[in-house]
Amino acid sequence: AHLWRGVLHEFRDRLDVTDATPIVTLGEGGTPLIAAPALSDRTGAKVWVKYEGMNPTGSFKDRGMTMAVTKAKEHGAQAVICASTGNTSASAAAYATYGGLTAAVLVPDGKIAMGKLAQAIAHGAELLQVRGNFDDCLDIARELAANYPVHLVNSVNNDRIEGQKTAAFEVVEVLGDAPDFHFIPVGNAGNYTAYTRGYSEDLAAGRVTKLPRMFGFQASGSAPLVRGEIVKDPETIASAIRIGNPASWELALAARELTDGYFGAIDDDVILDAHRILSRDVGVFVEPASAISVAGLLERAEAGEIPKGATVVLTVTGHGLKDPQWALKTADGGEVAPTKVAVDVAEVASVLGLKKSS
Ligand code: F0G
Repeated sequence: AHLWRGVLHEFRDRLDVTDATPIVTLGEGGTPLIAAPALSDRTGAKVWVKYEGMNPTGSFKDRGMTMAVTKAKEHGAQAVICASTGNTSASAAAYATYGGLTAAVLVPDGKIAMGKLAQAIAHGAELLQVRGNFDDCLDIARELAANYPVHLVNSVNNDRIEGQKTAAFEVVEVLGDAPDFHFIPVGNAGNYTAYTRGYSEDLAAGRVTKLPRMFGFQASGSAPLVRGEIVKDPETIASAIRIGNPASWELALAARELTDGYFGAIDDDVILDAHRILSRDVGVFVEPASAISVAGLLERAEAGEIPKGATVVLTVTGHGLKDPQWALKTADGGEVAPTKVAVDVAEVASVLGLKKSS
């Protein structure tokens, strides 16, 4: 059996890693690329789901954080800092703690999912809830990193993008070529940029015959790239991507241009519909922001933009257990209340609609 050793070991020939690099890894990457027949049936495309919730802290951030914390350590840093809508803080806290560094994290007060807050605190982060949104947190983090002895590990740090590009390498290793389309949630557009870089390097090395068209999606209330302007008060139930001023704006526009890509906006209720489809029909439980990849595919297929038989990869970025409350809501906004029963076999059978075998 081949035991997966984390992306810095597995792809060390494609990353700035030497024998002297103090690699900090929790075994990230190597996530499943899952065939999604339910989505293929709905769209006529061949659809695969890259399940990034299977990383050590439950999101794709771990690919970038192993690189960012490793490089911080190589440069002699003792503390890292980040702004976060939750997943980056959980990942930074875990990797920094493991690597013997301090993690300071700034999160928007009351606007991150409970599972992510719990992770960052459990891993010993110095967590501050800022009375502002993510964009305010990032402004402070950047200024602190410029003027104090703390190393910034947001995706404006190129080491993060370098680590995250490995997800594209993995897709190519499974499919044998790049897909025709790649759908992905967009907040700061760091991951959109990272996949584009990974596929581009594969193309330059002759490992693929084409670039996929990179299709990125933002929530309608937080869609600066679609609107072409900063959104001052971004809103969406997909708290991970509640971002009004994407840090990688210019890189994202270049990536869209390079890949003949697309940015689209999806309403929150449509995100939640896609979340239900992923859970019930695909077998993959994600946080709401991740479901936007599915919503985006269904919308583009409906619009006739996805040719039959095209190969499509959807990145779903974060695990459903981070923000599970949405699974307990019905399509019309009510609460799911599981039926209660007595300790009684006949009653349980009856409620389940089971007839006794004869
Ligand atoms: N999906 C999830 C689950 C995320 O947590 C994020 C970003 C994205 C998608 C968007 O990725 O920013 O590279 O375009 N979360 C950051 C955080 C902002 O702080 O955890 P992006």
